[in-house]
Amino acid sequence: MAAQLVNFPPGALRGSVTVPGDKSISHRALIAGAAGTTPLQIGNLNPGRDVRATREALIALGAHVRIDANDAEVVGGRLLSPAMPLDCMNSGSTARMLLGVCAGANAAARFDGDSSLRRRPMEPVAAQLRAFGAKIETTQGRLPLQLLGTPEIETRHFILLAASAQVKSALLFAGLFAGVSITVDGDRGSRDHTERLLAYLGAELEWDGRTARLSPSRLKGGSITVAGDASAAAFFLTAAAITPGSSIRIRDVGVNPTRTGLLDALRRMGAVIELHNERTRYGEPLADLAVEYHPLEAATIDAITALRAIDEIPLIAIAAAFAAGTTTIAGISDLRTKESDRIAAIERLLEAVGIESSYDRGVLRVVGGRPMPRTMVISTEDDHRIAMAAAVLACAAGPLSVEGADSAEVSFPGFATALAGLQRG
Ligand code: S3P
Repeated sequence: MAAQLVNFPPGALRGSVTVPGDKSISHRALIAGAAGTTPLQIGNLNPGRDVRATREALIALGAHVRIDANDAEVVGGRLLSPAMPLDCMNSGSTARMLLGVCAGANAAARFDGDSSLRRRPMEPVAAQLRAFGAKIETTQGRLPLQLLGTPEIETRHFILLAASAQVKSALLFAGLFAGVSITVDGDRGSRDHTERLLAYLGAELEWDGRTARLSPSRLKGGSITVAGDASAAAFFLTAAAITPGSSIRIRDVGVNPTRTGLLDALRRMGAVIELHNERTRYGEPLADLAVEYHPLEAATIDAITALRAIDEIPLIAIAAAFAAGTTTIAGISDLRTKESDRIAAIERLLEAVGIESSYDRGVLRVVGGRPMPRTMVISTEDDHRIAMAAAVLACAAGPLSVEGADSAEVSFPGFATALAGLQRG
């Protein structure tokens, strides 16, 4: 099938908008539902393909999931070995976190995914789960892989080998589904949605951003509503921050501090962003975000801030393209193995609008200027976040045609329509 080509026009953003439920929290909420024996009602589930992959895989494992638009009801029980391989589609979160779930539940399963997911590393999570006691065979460290079972639980105290919330969560879920205590140490501040959700649902869990300790726990059911996705709001936030004449409000967005690196980076560049109506709902902080255009200046973005913006680095690079001076962003080598090689993708985006950048050993340097389209067609390798970032770039630089724009369906169905709505004001 030929990749869809969509033309994104320039134009300021005005008005108010909401974004889909958080993708990271949605995966975890479905998994937490499958761990409990009383129903968990989940409102505002992310409607994208990645979360559908988790939902369908959990059903294949024997969980009961009823879905009505973006609301779900999940009841767990004993998870069983599925007859068919679990198709994780494009979703690294599905593959890695469900590997932990199945390892804990001692449910043998095969895991596979699309061509992008088959290129992504599974060895970091597989290695730590092998230490837990799981028997896992990968294809040279990647998918397809086979989990043969967890005959005996061995290690229960882990030092996290990668700065990855997915790996940390896989280990916590392994402990939860096995009914054993698990300690995960050495976190450097990766997103803590698993910890917050499990604690909200009554798990005995302590964490401080470095160490998480989970004791054998039974989760209570009940109902939760998923916060708006900070990584989806990020596209509109950045578009408004770089496009003269913009002034928007994004309602009910998750502002968990492990996810607000973009907000801090943009503010450091001089962006005018305000948080209104701050509150905590179902264990997660939430706010309405107001952003107005303001000329930007270059900034130095450290590795800790970058980790808190790990999915927003392309947007920080785009903002840097419009900022006076040279911006540096550190600690981003993991971007090579996201849905596509996002270092290469950022370089392509910036080059397409005549902006100079260089990358060396984890640090990206962007020389701000006056971005203007030089190449009309942007190739995205079907990476949803790169396709949406290209549309953001078009808002302020000039019209761009984006190849594979439909990949936004992975996390943000309706993105192009919502952006066009804001551009009409
Ligand atoms: C995610 C964690 C991050 C992020 C991904 C979602 C999660 O990956 O890039 O989009 O939901 O835990 P890593 O944990 O591999 O850094």
